[in-house]
Amino acid sequence: MELSEIYAPVQGDLDKIEDCLKSVCKVDFPHLAKLLDYSLRSVGKRIRPILTLLSGKSYDYNLERLLPMATAVEILHTATLVHDDAVDKSSVRRGRATVNSLWGEEQAILLGDYLFAEAGSLTASTGNLRTIKLFSETLKIISWGEISQALNAYNVKLKREEYFDRMAKKTAALFVLSTESGAVLSGAPEPCVQLLNEYSYNLGLAFQVVDDILDYVGTEKELGKPAGADLMQGTFTLPAMLLRERYPQEPAVKDLFKNKDSQADIKKVIEVVRNSPDITDECYRIANDFCAKACRNLNQLPDKPARKSLLELADYVVRRKK
Ligand code: IPE
Ligand code: IPE
Ligand code: MG
Ligand code: MG
Repeated sequence: MELSEIYAPVQGDLDKIEDCLKSVCKVDFPHLAKLLDYSLRSVGKRIRPILTLLSGKSYDYNLERLLPMATAVEILHTATLVHDDAVDKSSVRRGRATVNSLWGEEQAILLGDYLFAEAGSLTASTGNLRTIKLFSETLKIISWGEISQALNAYNVKLKREEYFDRMAKKTAALFVLSTESGAVLSGAPEPCVQLLNEYSYNLGLAFQVVDDILDYVGTEKELGKPAGADLMQGTFTLPAMLLRERYPQEPAVKDLFKNKDSQADIKKVIEVVRNSPDITDECYRIANDFCAKACRNLNQLPDKPARKSLLELADYVVRRKK
């Protein structure tokens, strides 16, 4: 199923989020307006705002209340990407040049700050204290995850628990903010909020595992961002971890990061992963397990089209090629 079909129950409202993003870009400062427009109105999958809308859809769905929040989670996501690209010195995002490559790192860091603040004020405009607190906590957790990733660059001894803990922080936390805010703002009963959070947390983990696989097996053209970038930046993810566990004697693995500047060793490891279906199959098995966990209790939610979309989205997250 295509994303557009999965999004169908809330498609009209997703268009309104695009309008909200557009109005956020209208500031009385042409340079900033250009940066905002460039970063917010590029073509992303919009998964996080969709989670917010779908989480509210089966309850007291009030678009006026949900729109600022759904817009906020997309802006918060964009801010993390703008900063992530600056930290990684990455050149391509969503199929075009990154903010840091066009306007420089300084502008990217400062734009990211502006976007975080914009997401914060939209969240505050909901007037819902639980959501506002969760927003701040989430931003702290994401920063923690990204700081820990940067600190662990070139650490080939990274353990699986540490890897999953980092993914929970840098990715799953924002998925949880997306569902919890949508459910709470729609007056969902607490057990349903918790079920949606169990779903989004595991969906976020699956999403990041697949992102980490695609970094090895995808192409820049498909992904709209550089392929093979993780290892180049010293980021040790699940495919490399499995390779090390299974083939510790493989020379490329033994030599990895002995000389950080040796792109040849890194390219070799990427090549070995690409040509080891057992490694990628195992990574996909792990992603599928997270998705199964995400969906295991969804049947306790109201039997509405939104529930079906959440199930389909879990399926899409593993199938996706970008
Ligand atoms: C990219 O997220 C960052 C990760 C958490 C892996 P997406 O793949 O959702 O990015 P866009 O919004 O579609 O560009
Ligand atoms: C997403 O992880 C991290 C953020 C929370 C921004 P990645 O570093 O894997 O994201 P991409 O691959 O650059 O999109
Ligand atoms: Mg990155
Ligand atoms: Mg990635």
